[in-house]
Order: sequence, then structure tokens, then C-alpha cells
Amino acid sequence: MKDFLLFSGTSNRPLGTLVAKQLGKKLSDIDITRFIDNECRVWIKEPDIDDRHIFVIQSLSQIADQNLVELCLIGQALKTLKARHVTAVIPWLGYSKQDKEFRKGEAVSAQLVVKFIEAAGFDQVITVELHSENLIPFFHIPVLELSTHELLTGCVGGNNGHIVVVSPDQGGLSRSDRFAAFSKHPIVHLSKIRDVKTGEVTITGIDGSVKGKTVVIFDDIINTGATAIRSSEFLKKQGASFIIFLSTHAVLAGDASQQLQKSPIDRVIVTDTIAIPKQKRSSKLTIVSVAPLLADAIKIIIQ
Ligand code: R5P
Repeated sequence: MKDFLLFSGTSNRPLGTLVAKQLGKKLSDIDITRFIDNECRVWIKEPDIDDRHIFVIQSLSQIADQNLVELCLIGQALKTLKARHVTAVIPWLGYSKQDKEFRKGEAVSAQLVVKFIEAAGFDQVITVELHSENLIPFFHIPVLELSTHELLTGCVGGNNGHIVVVSPDQGGLSRSDRFAAFSKHPIVHLSKIRDVKTGEVTITGIDGSVKGKTVVIFDDIINTGATAIRSSEFLKKQGASFIIFLSTHAVLAGDASQQLQKSPIDRVIVTDTIAIPKQKRSSKLTIVSVAPLLADAIKIIIQ
């Protein structure tokens, strides 16, 4: 493995530290502070950047705007110090839900976020489970998207004959189909509608039976928790005996954690692409780390 450096922004340092550990390295020295008016100030303290291959890990989690600016400042500083190749490792690409104009006049925010990242000088992006294929054409630099299917499937465990994968909505259909094929379980699909103004979610139908089954709902994001909660209520009424909700990115906005805890879901399994504070953890929640995935991707790029 060739020489490289790994920096972490402030949004998910526990994950940055785990990735460094997997790679047998220490995180490189950086000082990230805020001026009294909250503007971000980045100072690369590592002395030897010139001509090095560098990875910067930063999730664009809450507050996404601040974490994005921080990432861009790190990229710009590294490029000014003449780093040879800088890869942004963005486990959760914030703003990725805004990948199209849902109503005339709405910003396609994800597209501009990618432009910011490119303008900062990054040469490549590694990310995890993108929200949709719409995002790929926004990138003009190479983007490596890692899948969490294997990681999450491994958490579901035995009882295989009784498992049915559930796709929670039309948007996630191809993702859930791939997951079901990968995990070798049958799949049923829910129909979901979401009110664009209120965000309210309604499950309107299902194309198969879940009676007496362990259902594994597979989604990319838990944001407000509405999809998870409404679909679990629906599946319970359809006779599902045990409900597992798998999701790569635990945004857990507002009181989503408390609502999930009260819902008919038996287990919620997510990854650490987003740092989850203690107050958002609950007895139903299991967090698996994507650190080995990210470390393997870095090893492949660097070899
Ligand atoms: C929808 O397209 C996504 O795949 C997720 O289902 C959605 O973002 C989850 O959001 P919430 O938790 O607010 O229902």
C-alpha cells in the first residue's frame, strides 16, 4: 500500500478514527475552529502535504451547510499546499434528497453541492449508498459508491424461510430489488404517497403477503421516520410477525428516534455514516460501522 494521509472533519470523527484504525494509521493533524461569528477556519497542521495522496472524511450531516463548507475549506487548503490527489470520503451526502425539481422553481440542491465539492479542488469522491441514480450525472470527477447490502444483510440473521424483504416505496424499488436478490429473500412492494407540502406519508397498498413473516424493510435513509413508522403500522395490520427496518443513513431528524421506539418496528438497524448522538439511541437501534468498507475502498485506490 502506497503512502497516504487521512484527515477527518468534525461531523463524524468517531467514524474517521475507526477508518484510520482499520488502516493502521492516525488521523492527520488539522485544526478546525470557528470565529466568534461562527465562520469556519481550517488550518492544516500536518507539515508534509506536497505531492501526497490525501483522503478527507466528512459526512454532510446536520448541520449540512456548515459541514459542507468545512469540507470545502479542507479541500482548498490541501490543494494550496500542493497535495497531489485529494479524495473526499463523504459517507452521507447531505442534500442528496433534493436531486430534482419536485415543484417548478425548486433548487436542485444536490447538483450545486457537488459543484461546491468540485470547486474546492477534490479529485475524487467516495460515498456510501447514494439516494438515487439521478445524482451520478452531477459529478464530473470520479465517484465511487459503496453498497451496504452485505453489511446490513449480515445483521438480519437466521430464520431465513420466514423472511420477506419489503420495498417501502416506488423510489426505492430498484434498491430493494437488488437487496432482495443479494440476500436471496422474496420481495413484496408497498405503494407510498408523500404529501409534498406536509411531508405526510400514507401507505396505499401491497403486492404480496407478509402474514406470519419476519419482514425486512430496506431503505436508504431514515429522515423523519415517517416512511418507517407508516410502513410498519401497515405491515403489522397485514399480519407481519416481526419487523426489521434496515437503513444505511440514520438522519433521525427531530423526534424520529422517539417515534421509532414507539412504533411497531421490532429492530432498527442502521450504519454510522452519520454520527448518532447518545440521546438518539434506543433499545431498538443497532448501529453497524461502515469503517471496514471505507478502509477497503481507500486501500484499493491507494494500491
Ligand atoms: C425516499 O425516497 C427515501 O428513500 C426514504 O424513504 C425517505 O427519505 C425517508 O424519509 P422519512 O424518514 O422522512 O420518511
